[in-house]
Amino acid sequence: MNRHLRLGVNIDHVATIRNARGGLHPDPVRAARMAAAAGADGITAHLREDRRHISDSDIERLTAELDIPLNLEMAATDEMLEIALRHRPHAACLVPERREERTTEGGLDAVGGHNHLQHYVIRLRESGSRVSLFIEADRPQLEAAVSLGAPVVELHTGAYCEAFIEDPNGERTKNCLRRLQEAAAEAEKLGLEVHAGHGLTFDTVGPVAAIPALAELNIGHFLVGEAIFGGLDSSIRRMRALMDKARAEAGGARSA
Ligand code: PXP
Repeated sequence: MNRHLRLGVNIDHVATIRNARGGLHPDPVRAARMAAAAGADGITAHLREDRRHISDSDIERLTAELDIPLNLEMAATDEMLEIALRHRPHAACLVPERREERTTEGGLDAVGGHNHLQHYVIRLRESGSRVSLFIEADRPQLEAAVSLGAPVVELHTGAYCEAFIEDPNGERTKNCLRRLQEAAAEAEKLGLEVHAGHGLTFDTVGPVAAIPALAELNIGHFLVGEAIFGGLDSSIRRMRALMDKARAEAGGARSA
């Protein structure tokens, strides 16, 4: 077991907040720099077909400005392949994508989609990106990843996290965790590097982080949400102080 479990911070939802106003704030690249300074080993960003959060220029800036590896999450489409080949990110994670979904709702079907995916895995590998497939914790999916030549799989932790919210000690939670543990061990035996992510929180990360075969976790939405509670206090205090200072100075100027 490698003692250091890498943390990839997914900054998509910094861009979601920015896009709510269509301006430049908050800047996902600034968040990426802050994540690196706070101990992230890499940055993950999902360029969706509908550009609902991360934009093309975010990817351009992240590639140009980041000192830590960028993991580009992407659908297996020609448009995304062209973008990935242009930017050649450190890593490319192939994910399923449906326009109507709120988030990536399940793993890629590497078994049924084998013929479609093969071209993308080959082209991305040739360009130097480390390719991973975002899959459910199932043996046939792991075997399909091997036969596709993907060196990495990312196990979808969404079902475990949902079960945990319903009942942290329930049978479903235990089963989901066991499934992740078994798949991670199996993947390692098959020679794959194993990552995991989706829906992880302070409450759910512990048992997943303890799975020995895992090399990396990718975490986003919770961290961005939690930052509101960690950071709202200081941003309000600073705004209050700036307002008070401006008033004090204006009062001084008026009475002078
Ligand atoms: N890993 C993959 C492949 C994902 O698609 C996502 C969501 O974009 C994550 C990890 C992070 O999930 P969350 O934002 O729920 O932490």
